[in-house]
Amino acid sequence: MNIWSKFYLKTKSERLEILKKLNKINDKQEKLLLNDELKLKEIANNLIENQIGTYEIPYGVLPKIIVNGKEYTVPMATEEPSVIAAASFGAKTLENFTAKMEEKYIIGQIAFIEYDKEKLKSLDIENLIEFSNTVYPSILKYGGGVKNIKYEIKNEFLIFYVSLDASEAMGANIINTILESLKTHIENLISGEGLMAILSNYATESVVTVKAKVNVDKLKTDIFSGEMVAKRIIKATEFAKTDIYRATTHNKGIMNGITAVVLATGNDTRAVESSCHSFAVKDGKYQPLSNYYLEDDFLIAEMKIPIPIGNVGGYIKVHPMAQLTKQIIGHKNVKELAMIIASVGLSQNFSALRALVTKGIQEGHMNLHYKTLAISVGANNLEIKEVVKLLKNEKTINSEKAKEILQNLRENKI
Ligand code: MEV
Repeated sequence: MNIWSKFYLKTKSERLEILKKLNKINDKQEKLLLNDELKLKEIANNLIENQIGTYEIPYGVLPKIIVNGKEYTVPMATEEPSVIAAASFGAKTLENFTAKMEEKYIIGQIAFIEYDKEKLKSLDIENLIEFSNTVYPSILKYGGGVKNIKYEIKNEFLIFYVSLDASEAMGANIINTILESLKTHIENLISGEGLMAILSNYATESVVTVKAKVNVDKLKTDIFSGEMVAKRIIKATEFAKTDIYRATTHNKGIMNGITAVVLATGNDTRAVESSCHSFAVKDGKYQPLSNYYLEDDFLIAEMKIPIPIGNVGGYIKVHPMAQLTKQIIGHKNVKELAMIIASVGLSQNFSALRALVTKGIQEGHMNLHYKTLAISVGANNLEIKEVVKLLKNEKTINSEKAKEILQNLRENKI
């Protein structure tokens, strides 16, 4: 029996039992999840300015995705009802996720507005790399360090680009510390005036490629043959390549999956979001980040996307849910994590496109919307299903109607 079968229909405690059985969580972590006792509350005041509370977001799991032959359960934090269902469907339907991440370097920039051209010519780049590595030597112990420095002149700016291997860290603080020292160092060498030094969120050196496939037979619906669905998914991608209004929504769907996992891991969602959207315009025109084509009997899905994240670091270490996510996924290092995240993004996108080119997404969305409505008016676990069923027969659907149905149900009027 497949242990994940009908996972979405189980109660929360049944789901936790399964995770315990699979050794993905222990008793203490089960308590953390059941009591929603977010220990972050105790330290939140030290994390941000003017802190007055904590803001919670639903946390669920994509039960199973196989990436590079290894099976993972992936936590996702999201407020959007259909996201986990869609990601799970994509992960189940697509096969053979193969992902690669060659390098994970964070790029930093230093901009100069004044400099001596002759001194710039005689600048020794190797020397700059050596200097940079004296600023933050602890990263060398982990096999990291500054790997490359180059400069370009763009209009009035002399811009240095510094590539740092931050090892398991995301590297924002490390690179910013290095850049600020390096700025002063270079200012002295080229009699220059630095304008600013900061990391870049255009993470062209933290790129993951991911590919998966599905036999077109698996795509058939009541109305369309599998081949027709596959061709319609390809057409949907062509549509996104043609029109920025569609491309943006196409990519938003990808980010539904990516951001939910990034958030659950305690990483910086804005860094990943800005990086992905700027990567989508790398060839001068905003494009869909994924692509689909047919190969023999298979629809191939592929995507190339920057995932600038870390697997260690202050916030990840102190946030109990980020730690739990790490344990549930069970990855060994940051690159493995980035490849899983990209695979979830592709699953999400595949599911959205498949639904859009067949029966549309509203049916699935509305079911979840009704459920949220039923919960919001106080329906308990036993009542939710019935309220949803009755809501579907109504012309006007709002919380007043849901309240009325619940009341009638409780008074045995229906
Ligand atoms: C909704 O959050 C995401 C979709 O709009 C994505 C898409 O259109 O591809 C369904």
